[in-house]
Amino acid sequence: MFMQSSFTLLLSLLVLIGCASAVEITVKVDELGLQFNPQNLTANKGDTIKWAMVHGKHIIQQSDSAGSCSNSTQANALSSGIIEEGSQYIYTITQDSGKIYYFCAYSSHCLLGEFGEISIGVGPSTVTDDAGTTNNSSAPHSGSDSLKGTAKAGIGISAVMATVIAIGILLIG
Ligand SMILES: *[C@@H]1O[C@H](CO)[C@@H](O)[C@H](O)[C@H]1NC(C)=O
Ligand SMILES: *[C@@H]1O[C@H](CO)[C@@H](O)[C@H](O)[C@H]1NC(C)=O
Ligand SMILES: *[C@@H]1O[C@H](CO)[C@@H](O)[C@H](O)[C@H]1NC(C)=O
Ligand SMILES: *[C@@H]1O[C@H](CO)[C@@H](O)[C@H](O)[C@H]1NC(C)=O
Repeated sequence: MFMQSSFTLLLSLLVLIGCASAVEITVKVDELGLQFNPQNLTANKGDTIKWAMVHGKHIIQQSDSAGSCSNSTQANALSSGIIEEGSQYIYTITQDSGKIYYFCAYSSHCLLGEFGEISIGVGPSTVTDDAGTTNNSSAPHSGSDSLKGTAKAGIGISAVMATVIAIGILLIG
């Protein structure tokens, strides 16, 4: 009886840890021309999106449809103001689902293809390293040099989960 309730408690803990695993996703802006990289990404509530201005200045501005270069009509639409080269803009996802369409409202950047979208609550969050390199592999990076940013956070959470499962098995056995 005691063992079973302990295990239930541990399972609940696991679920809590799973929910708390927010990640930071880096989008490189104007690295290889006027575009966002990755252009489209998936995220979940609590994740932060970091737009890193590689070249030039940019404005991250929400729109109301894919590829649109018109400001969103929503009251609290995402709008960064001008972000200078070398600086970054960070936004935390507060919604459980839906899409955020956005574009660069600086000069005519959007007409040249600088727009993107964020799909929320549709699956695992896009994984990037600190430099914004997209990596679709869910396996941990090898080599300590690549253990940074979201990858390191993911490994930390996995380690906690493994420990919790191990304790659970010990208690049951
Ligand atoms: C991003 O999504 C749009 C549709 O909303 C699509 O036209 C575009 O090709 C996608 N970009 C990439 C790089 O997959
Ligand atoms: C759209 O938003 C940008 C950035 O906040 C602003 O500079 C621009 O004036 C807005 N455009 C319109 C038509 O309201
Ligand atoms: C990751 O997936 C996206 C979308 O499917 C794709 O455009 C991109 O090239 C992939 N990146 C890597 C490093 O495989
Ligand atoms: C992506 O992750 C895999 C597995 O950790 C790693 O072997 C690979 O080198 C990574 N690729 C990139 C482009 O970072």
